[in-house]
Amino acid sequence: MRRLFIKTYGCQMNVYDSERMEDVLAPLGFESSDDAAAADLLILNTCHIREKAVEKVYSDIGRYRILKEQASAEGRQMLIVVAGCVAQAEAEEILNRAKAVDIVVGPQTYHRLPALVEQATEARRRGSRQRYIDTEFPASEKFDRLPAATGRSAPTAFLTIQEGCDKFCTFCVVPYTRGMEISRPVVDVLAEAQHLADQGALEITLLGQNVNAYHGRDERGRETGLGDLIRRAAKTDGIERIRYTTSHPRDMDESLISAHREVPECMPYLHLPVQSGSDRVLKAMNRRHTSGDYLRTIDKLRAACPDIAISGDFIVGFPGESDQDFEATLELVSEVGYAQAYSFKYSRRPGTPAAEAENQLPEPVKAERLARLQELLNQQQLQFNEASVGRRMKVLLERRGKHADQLVGRSPHMQAVHVQVRPREETPSAETLDDLSQAAYSSHIGKIVEVEIVSAGPNSLKGRCIELSPARTAA
Ligand code: 5AD
Ligand code: SF4
Repeated sequence: MRRLFIKTYGCQMNVYDSERMEDVLAPLGFESSDDAAAADLLILNTCHIREKAVEKVYSDIGRYRILKEQASAEGRQMLIVVAGCVAQAEAEEILNRAKAVDIVVGPQTYHRLPALVEQATEARRRGSRQRYIDTEFPASEKFDRLPAATGRSAPTAFLTIQEGCDKFCTFCVVPYTRGMEISRPVVDVLAEAQHLADQGALEITLLGQNVNAYHGRDERGRETGLGDLIRRAAKTDGIERIRYTTSHPRDMDESLISAHREVPECMPYLHLPVQSGSDRVLKAMNRRHTSGDYLRTIDKLRAACPDIAISGDFIVGFPGESDQDFEATLELVSEVGYAQAYSFKYSRRPGTPAAEAENQLPEPVKAERLARLQELLNQQQLQFNEASVGRRMKVLLERRGKHADQLVGRSPHMQAVHVQVRPREETPSAETLDDLSQAAYSSHIGKIVEVEIVSAGPNSLKGRCIELSPARTAA
């Protein structure tokens, strides 16, 4: 057996890719391990979206170099691979800055990773210090060449249906690191969904950098949009929940919006980044929509699915953003009422148009705006969660909680819910919870259960399981 350690940074696309790298390396005898120090192959699956994410990669490589030296002192060979978007964007720089790195491989060529690993292993055996780079963009080879996803018997699974982006927002590296938009054929997506369901997934999240730009071909060669793909995927035996991320406001078409009304499996949650509430800034960002367009889309979504939870991404301190522009963002947030959101200070990314702009904002201005925006978003998130108290909702139980009697899952609205499986008075303490009870709790993982929400915090809910608790008899 050879040990494989993968560290994944960034978005869910990378989580999916890391699993695919595990799949593609398994035939070489690699098994995943949590122990970086003991690894024969150490992969960093990196993110390039903001400067901070990139800095983290370089500092981690520094730490892993020490592990590699230790391994070498013990007579073991350890290979270090940098994969993902930093690899794509800065291959040469990585090799120059980090001598410990053996292989650099971009997101489009993971199917070639086994050959690269074998070549590097062989080279090291011969005493050669040769290093390897593969950051090509072979047209749509990736999905055709990767083996079928093995599935990980998890109740919830990711499924990449689309990669890349043609939108070229002026702040964003994605079109450069992930390339042009490609959509996988419908049959391939449906086959993978069935496979994941057979492995135990009840929920799938369809992934893409621009997932709602999906336009894969069906059996008859016709282009199919995401709305219709969801309608078909919902028929997969065993799949009860479908989510998708990340969407662009311009691609929220009628068919997709109405899927939220018509398809019970399509969950009432949508991550729809707007980035800014100022039309001037949106234009400079090349977002190709106005704040009005965005608000109209939200209205349509709410008409189709009244309780839909909206999530978003925001950038503050984009070059030239005035106080007034920033106020417009706060206004938009107030108008929408977000269930949750991510917000970032603008980070200057080399090679993107906005990085060249002369009117960059000073760091303290960005920090102050970010703090104000996050305060408002946090308030909204708490409000959204508090509105769930007293309600009943279906929760997909995904894992054990911190406390012995708790399981953790997600509500339809994507809130984390800590579920107490039995009424408190019947629950043994952590110390007395014997193996049998532990197993009984774990056996509920992977079920969708009815839960009554009893309290709410900013980041999660607490609930009581209705279905699984024994019927209460009148005292
Ligand atoms: N600076 C700050 N945030 C960025 N994002 C993308 N590029 C940048 C950047 N240069 C954010 C956007 C995007 C999310 C994934 O990351 O909000 O939606
Ligand atoms: Fe980046 Fe814009 Fe494409 Fe999203 S739509 S990946 S922000 S370029």
